[in-house]
Amino acid sequence: MTELIAGFSKLSKEEKISWLRRTYLKDNPEATDILRQYWNQEPKLQQLHEEFAENTISNYYLPFGIAPNFIINNLRYAIPMAIEESSVIAAASKAAKFWAERGGFHAEVLGTTKIGQVHFMFPGAPEKLKSFFQDCKSRLRDSVSALTRNMEKRGGGVLDIELRDKSDSIPHYYQLHCTFETKDSMGANFINSCLEKFAATFREEAQLYEAFTPEEKNLEIVMSILSNYVPECIVRAEVSCAVTELGDKDCSGELFAEKFLRAIRIAEVEPFRAVTHNKGIMNGIDAVVLATGNDFRAVEAGVHAYAVQNGKYSSLTHASVENGMFRMWMEIPLALGTVGGLTSLHPLSKLALEILHKPSAEQLMKIVAVAGLAQNFAAVKSLVTTGIQKGHMKMHLLNILNQLKADKGEKDRLVEWFKTRQVTHSAVEEALANLRS
Ligand code: MEV
Repeated sequence: MTELIAGFSKLSKEEKISWLRRTYLKDNPEATDILRQYWNQEPKLQQLHEEFAENTISNYYLPFGIAPNFIINNLRYAIPMAIEESSVIAAASKAAKFWAERGGFHAEVLGTTKIGQVHFMFPGAPEKLKSFFQDCKSRLRDSVSALTRNMEKRGGGVLDIELRDKSDSIPHYYQLHCTFETKDSMGANFINSCLEKFAATFREEAQLYEAFTPEEKNLEIVMSILSNYVPECIVRAEVSCAVTELGDKDCSGELFAEKFLRAIRIAEVEPFRAVTHNKGIMNGIDAVVLATGNDFRAVEAGVHAYAVQNGKYSSLTHASVENGMFRMWMEIPLALGTVGGLTSLHPLSKLALEILHKPSAEQLMKIVAVAGLAQNFAAVKSLVTTGIQKGHMKMHLLNILNQLKADKGEKDRLVEWFKTRQVTHSAVEEALANLRS
């Protein structure tokens, strides 16, 4: 076993790489070159990336693409997406065009409240704690005034602080359940700073509270942290059209709607399908969240928790047919920001937001939800008609050709060849071998 290394973060980038080479990459003479080839030639830009996170030794690129032709609430958008999966942007673009010809997408923000909690243990009687909380609630709010001043100027701040008794689940466990409005910022730092201040003030106040016994005065703060579950920070995205408008030369609108609704119903009742169904939604959501410098892990965690809110993991999208009208919709929680964090720091995120007409956080919530809905429409449409592999493998063809080290001429000829043929790994291998012989 290799020895633990002390002070790794203090080493220079070159020293980190040479330690890595000596320790883990002895047999790879190209390792340094592989890492170096992704360094940005512009030293300032490289330094910016290195300062995003500790121990950076290179940059990890993702394709940054555009899905054009989205119409959302009658406005036109080209949506930037950062994603490596070959068929996602193509599918989003296809769905965008399909719905642009049928009135576009509609989206609405239903709520923007975010949540954070101070978790603590109190050994005394709940009634005593309630009286103490009522007594000190206004002082808790006052204690964060320096932190909330700027946020309040923008129309945000602390909405409420509530005492929650959780001692049924864990003896002596309580929470300060706090709600926030963070306007155009995602608000994680703001919320966490407020919570830590609430926690400190709460404990100080307890120590001064005369009705508490010495043990009660010593109430224990366990932790103070925002919640990535944001069921009150919700956006709804929807599309609709006459059923007859769904048809094409291979399938009538009625038949398509029937197959589509059945697929959605399966995802509503069957968790194994629902997870994959929702993964398809997240293909669209994560790609825009990432392109705009937002935290996709936070979004993922919150969305999946929401998908299980009724006690069973289920589809996030729904569809109906009534009076000859097809409707498909989704309501999801999205905590996003368009100021702060990476949004203005990462040149590509900044540009992505510019492409989206510099949206507010609420506008970005609508755009991201629409990207998810579009992605799901495209996936389910393929699944219930041609199957997913046809489109997917067409897009994957270049990956296979690159893996087989095809040159530019070979790629051009084989892309042409496979326009009318089924793409499989072995079919591509065979076609390339034939071409080469
Ligand atoms: C693949 O990344 C996503 C799909 O599996 C989604 C779905 O099955 O709905 C195609």
